[in-house]
Amino acid sequence: MTDGGTSAKIRLAGVTHSFDGVRALDNVDLELSPRQSLVLIGGSGSGKSLLLKSILGLVEPDAGTIEVDGEETVGMPENQRMQWMKRFGVLFQRQGLFDSLKVWENVAFRLLHEHDVPRAEAREIAISKLGQVGLIAGTADLFPAELSGGMQKRVGLARAIATDPDILFLDEPTAGLDPIMSNIISDLINDRVDDLGASVISIVSDLAVVRRIADSVLMLHEGRVVWHGPVSDLDTADNAYLRQFVAQSIDGPIRMPALAG
Ligand SMILES: Nc1ncnc2c1ncn2[C@@H]1O[C@H](COP(=O)(O)OP(=O)(O)O)[C@@H](O)[C@H]1O
Ligand SMILES: [Mg+2]
Repeated sequence: MTDGGTSAKIRLAGVTHSFDGVRALDNVDLELSPRQSLVLIGGSGSGKSLLLKSILGLVEPDAGTIEVDGEETVGMPENQRMQWMKRFGVLFQRQGLFDSLKVWENVAFRLLHEHDVPRAEAREIAISKLGQVGLIAGTADLFPAELSGGMQKRVGLARAIATDPDILFLDEPTAGLDPIMSNIISDLINDRVDDLGASVISIVSDLAVVRRIADSVLMLHEGRVVWHGPVSDLDTADNAYLRQFVAQSIDGPIRMPALAG
C-alpha cells in the first residue's frame, strides 16, 4: 500500500472482546487487501468465529477499531449497518440452511428479505447461482435435508454469493467433507471469488484447503494473533504455534483442555 494504508478492504486494530472477564479476542490487528484471500486458523475456541462476528457487527468489541473500506464500523447506527451489511456474503459454520425452506428460497433469502427482489426474479437468480456452484436447476425445489453434505456446502456457497458481495466470509466451508470433495469445493470458492473480485476471510482447519484457497494466513491462539504471513511461509516459518498446528502435533504451546481431572 502506497497511500498510507487507506486502501485496505478491512482493517482491525486492537480489537478486544471479553466474556465474563476472559479475553476471547485480545488486541487483534488484521489487514485484508482488496481481492485477497485470508484464512484464519487456530484451535477450537481460539476466537476465529468471534472475529468474523465482530467484523459483521454481530458482537461489539470492548475496544479497538474495525474499518471497512476506510469507514469505522464499531458503533455504527443499526439502520446504517443494515445497508452496509448488504455488501457481505456469509457462509456460516454448518451452512445454517433453513430446513423448512426450499433450496432456492435459502439461496435467495437475502434477495427476498433484504433487497426486496420479486419472488420470480429471486428464483431465477437463485437457479443461476446454483448453476455457478455446479448444481442443476432441479435442485432448487428440494429441501436441504434431501441433499448430501457436499451439495449442502454448495448451496451455502450459492447463498453467500447470491447478492454479488464484494466481501465474503466463509466459516468452515469444507468441514466434514471427504478430501476430494474438499478440493472441489475449494476450487469452486476460488473461481467464484475471482468472478466477483471479492475479498475473502475464511476459517479453515483442513491444511490442504488452507493451501488451496489462502493468499495469507492468520493464526489465533486464545484470542491473540500468534502468526500472520503468506501461505508460502506455512511450512517454513519459525513459529512454535504454527509448527505445532501444521505438524498436527499434540506437543507444543497449544494445549487442549483436559477432558477429565
Ligand atoms: N456468546 C458467547 N458467550 C460466551 N462465550 C463465548 C461466546 N461466543 C464465543 N465465546 C467464547 O469465545 C471463545 C472463542 O469462540 P469462537 O470464536 O467461537 O472460537 P472458534 O475459534 O472455535 O471459532 C471461546 O472460548 C468461546 O467459548
Ligand atoms: Mg468457530
